[in-house]
Amino acid sequence: MRDLSSELLAWYDVHAREMPWRTSPSDRKEGILPDPYAVWMSEVMLQQTTVAAVRDYHRKFLRLWPTVRDLAAADDADVMAAWAGLGYYARARNLLKCARAVVADHGGQFPDTHDVLLTLPGIGPYTAAAISAIAFDQPETVVDGNVERVMARLYDVHEPLPASKGQLTTLARALTPKMRPGDYAQAVMDLGATICTPRSPACGICPWRDPCAARIAGTAAELPKKTPKKKTPTRFGIAYVVRREDGAWLLETRPETGLLGGMLGWPGSDWGDDPAPNPPLEAAWQPLAEEARHTFTHFHLRLTIMTARVGQHSAPLRGAFMDHTAFSPTALPTAMRKVFDLAELTLRDH
Ligand code: ADE
Repeated sequence: MRDLSSELLAWYDVHAREMPWRTSPSDRKEGILPDPYAVWMSEVMLQQTTVAAVRDYHRKFLRLWPTVRDLAAADDADVMAAWAGLGYYARARNLLKCARAVVADHGGQFPDTHDVLLTLPGIGPYTAAAISAIAFDQPETVVDGNVERVMARLYDVHEPLPASKGQLTTLARALTPKMRPGDYAQAVMDLGATICTPRSPACGICPWRDPCAARIAGTAAELPKKTPKKKTPTRFGIAYVVRREDGAWLLETRPETGLLGGMLGWPGSDWGDDPAPNPPLEAAWQPLAEEARHTFTHFHLRLTIMTARVGQHSAPLRGAFMDHTAFSPTALPTAMRKVFDLAELTLRDH
């Protein structure tokens, strides 16, 4: 039987993508493994997010908090502000919880086994496998969307996702080598990201071109099949943007649980089919003609924006005024940032 994993590793030796949290295949062969803290951070950021979007955030986080002890000691609001724009904010809350657990329960050292990693906040089976393989060279099998696609094609699996997930994981596990499992895990992901891409895979230059059952059958581009999702619903809401005479903005920190939990945002209504108005203070509200639109995983959101200017002594029912020197729109999650960008045009000083 041909040694598929060795063939892929030979390709990775030449084509590994450089990433700030990686060490190169040649370094790894010398036993130089990456910092587990940096690997953990990268894997949490890369859940649901592309490598291109993650690079700058990863660099920023390691500059602000170079070690897990630094991050564990950080203010929650600073971490949430630094995460703003990356989305899926539960990840940032869990990032902090996990850093604190690593310091409190593990002496500031990341555990090196899958099972102990799994006990930490925000670390599920995928992330535990990725950290133990990449940071500690444990022979774990890492299965993300890239790996599922590569396996579905290599073995010409036509059963649709998500039902085929177990089968694809079994196939991936059978290929995982005892030697260089960390490089191997990253090699399959790189293959999926650069060659075995969702549309128009570059089969001509693929190191697994010859054994690939879907290439032989001519079905690569249509795999993996997916069970169609339900249509994404639309929810509506109202966001209230208040500017005080001195330039301060009325903001609130959203509740810890729920969407955009723990993030800074504009006071608003609930989000639903027909939300009831819920202004944070009495004012001469002006609606904006344009609404802010943002798509979350499970729904589209359309926010009507109400704006008001108020006097220096105005007392809001909810939220707090934030001095314009303390407020940075970059601390807002993207949906709230879109509201700001529209409202600011009418509320800014002339
Ligand atoms: N996606 C998630 N983790 C990754 C990694 N370590 N390398 C490449 N792509 C990834």
